[in-house]
Amino acid sequence: MSLTPRQLFVTTALPYANAPFHVGHMMEYIQADIWVRFQRMRGHTVHFVCADDAHGAPIMIAAEKAGKTPQQFVADIAADRKQYLDGFHIGFDHWHSTDAPENHQLAKEIYIALREAGFISTKSVEQFFDPVKGMFLPDRYVKGECPKCSAKDQYGDSCEACGAVYSPTELMNPYSTLTGATPVLKSSEHYFFKLSDPRCVEFLQSWSNSGHLQTEVLNKIKEWFNTDESGKTGLSDWDISRDAPYFGIEIPDAPGKYFYVWLDAPIGYLASLSAHFKHIGQDMNAFLADPATEQIHFIGKDITYFHTLFWPAMLKFSGRKVPDKIFVHGFITLGGDKMSKSRGTGISPLKYLSLGLNAEWLRYYLAAKLNSRVEDVEFTPDDFVARVNSDLVGKYINIASRAAGFLSKRFGGKLSGDLGVEGRTLLDTLRAHRATIEALYEEREFGKAQREIMLLADRVNEYVDQHKPWELAKLEGQEAVLHDVCSVCLEAFRLLTIYLKPVLPTLAAQVEAFMNLPPLRFDDAQRAMGPHVISEYKHLMQRVDPKSVEALLAQPAPAVTAPQEAPAPGGEALAPTIGIDDFTKIDLRIAKIVDCSLVEGSSKLLRLTLDVGEVDEQGQPKTRNVFSGIQSAYQPSDLIGKLTVMVANLAPRKMKFGLSEGMVLAASHADEKAQPGLYILSPWPGAQPGMRVS
Ligand code: 2FM
Ligand code: ZN
Repeated sequence: MSLTPRQLFVTTALPYANAPFHVGHMMEYIQADIWVRFQRMRGHTVHFVCADDAHGAPIMIAAEKAGKTPQQFVADIAADRKQYLDGFHIGFDHWHSTDAPENHQLAKEIYIALREAGFISTKSVEQFFDPVKGMFLPDRYVKGECPKCSAKDQYGDSCEACGAVYSPTELMNPYSTLTGATPVLKSSEHYFFKLSDPRCVEFLQSWSNSGHLQTEVLNKIKEWFNTDESGKTGLSDWDISRDAPYFGIEIPDAPGKYFYVWLDAPIGYLASLSAHFKHIGQDMNAFLADPATEQIHFIGKDITYFHTLFWPAMLKFSGRKVPDKIFVHGFITLGGDKMSKSRGTGISPLKYLSLGLNAEWLRYYLAAKLNSRVEDVEFTPDDFVARVNSDLVGKYINIASRAAGFLSKRFGGKLSGDLGVEGRTLLDTLRAHRATIEALYEEREFGKAQREIMLLADRVNEYVDQHKPWELAKLEGQEAVLHDVCSVCLEAFRLLTIYLKPVLPTLAAQVEAFMNLPPLRFDDAQRAMGPHVISEYKHLMQRVDPKSVEALLAQPAPAVTAPQEAPAPGGEALAPTIGIDDFTKIDLRIAKIVDCSLVEGSSKLLRLTLDVGEVDEQGQPKTRNVFSGIQSAYQPSDLIGKLTVMVANLAPRKMKFGLSEGMVLAASHADEKAQPGLYILSPWPGAQPGMRVS
């Protein structure tokens, strides 16, 4: 059976270049990698690329905090990627950056084409501006009190306490999380992509209904088209510009304006492909212009909107090829929660590797749980151990280990040509399932594919149990039967290896080496191995030790040599390591609480008057006013006259009740509900106000 060769351009979502990978990234890469390897094993051509998503305000701010240029900051993150990708056998052809010249150029070209086609408009937008920092504030950098329930310290878009959704300008007593300053409203001209243009709506309705999307995704999209009172369906225009300072790509003919990161991020797919085509000496434009080329994006469900509306529309109206498939997956969860690095929950990919856990165990486990729908995948430690130990090792690896030894010892590793009727029937059954297994991989029904494969492994094991090679080996005159039975097992093992190879690429390479085979492809399943000599069998895969999985999930990371359950200190994982330079930026001083009072209108705050040994121009002692959320733990009279420790160089923060000129330090457990209690720090006797704490 020969297939018409396909040419595929496959991507995974571009990760923000502000943090190392978490297990959610690895799940997406593994899913895409399995699909890509499967296509290659069928003889199709695949260009599989990704890149760092380098731009945007959060990265610019993180770089500044780290004392680096944004370019250096993203380069340092990029340098960290390889160990994860190699460690989990992710075979990207190329890894790029959205800050690379190809992306600057492509983004500008696409924008100019959109502008020429009449899809760009401008409009004045009023937004919060941080007067201290001199920049417009993205919503997540504005906090304040919820306009609905008055909960404090809520983000500019929604309230974590009552779930209300609002715009940052509706917050009460807003403040900039960057400087603590009260933001002011300021207008500036913004550039918009006119998604409201009837051509856009018409195109997106037709594109989304043309088989490019999963059913659930299509249903979701329908909700995003608004219908006005007159029954007209439309989309809102998309704000694609941000004002300087911004780390991004400058908009042509618009000094001081940059593309919003989500405009140039997906263009990074093309930039990465372009760099890859440069390396391999091929013409990307010709490849993309070829109607046979299929463009496929694997993404998580949280970024569906960008990939099913903005991205196809940008491509279409800049005169480019539009995506053929958007494959959306769910999140990986642990105990029902999305794994989160910031909460210190979940699986660290590097810890997984450093504990000596085999990357292909995780690949197999995820494959066994993945399907083509937008469903979350729950990581269950017991299930992980069971699937690897019972299925992968107990069913599949076991076949080779039960038969290969006899072949080496008794027959010089040579397989027999005549396999017996029963053996041939078994192998025919295995071959007959090839089409089903291929169809399941093609549809990304990896879980079903693994189940099919394990059912076939069960049949092979039944055959082994019936023929008992270990008993045949002891009987006189049963040499030929033993030879046939073991040869059937090895041929069956080869077929199962073909079926598992997209998931277990390095194991398959070891099998190819031990069986002296060229790289296995799917159509090799149709041909028998025939008389063939194999090398000596060495054990191919260990079982998982459940203790190492416990160690993996324990917080914080236990020592690799002595895995043990270690609860996170104070209920939260330690923050990333910093250098002494980072620490000395924080000026901690001994402060005397010369006065303390309740704050009218606040049930949380106390007003502290602190002496940190400062004097004014006249040489008179000067005090600071600090608001601190410690009313639940202390009466004002408990504190007056005591010494404590404060952050003396924190930018003053304007609050509803007045200016707060620093912060006092207090200890609490991360889970305040489970372990209530708040304890301010107090120095040993002898410390004087103003002394630096270092
Ligand atoms: O959500 C994210 O992590 C984005 N960095 C994904 C970008 S995907 C593509 F558009 F670049
Ligand atoms: Zn609220």
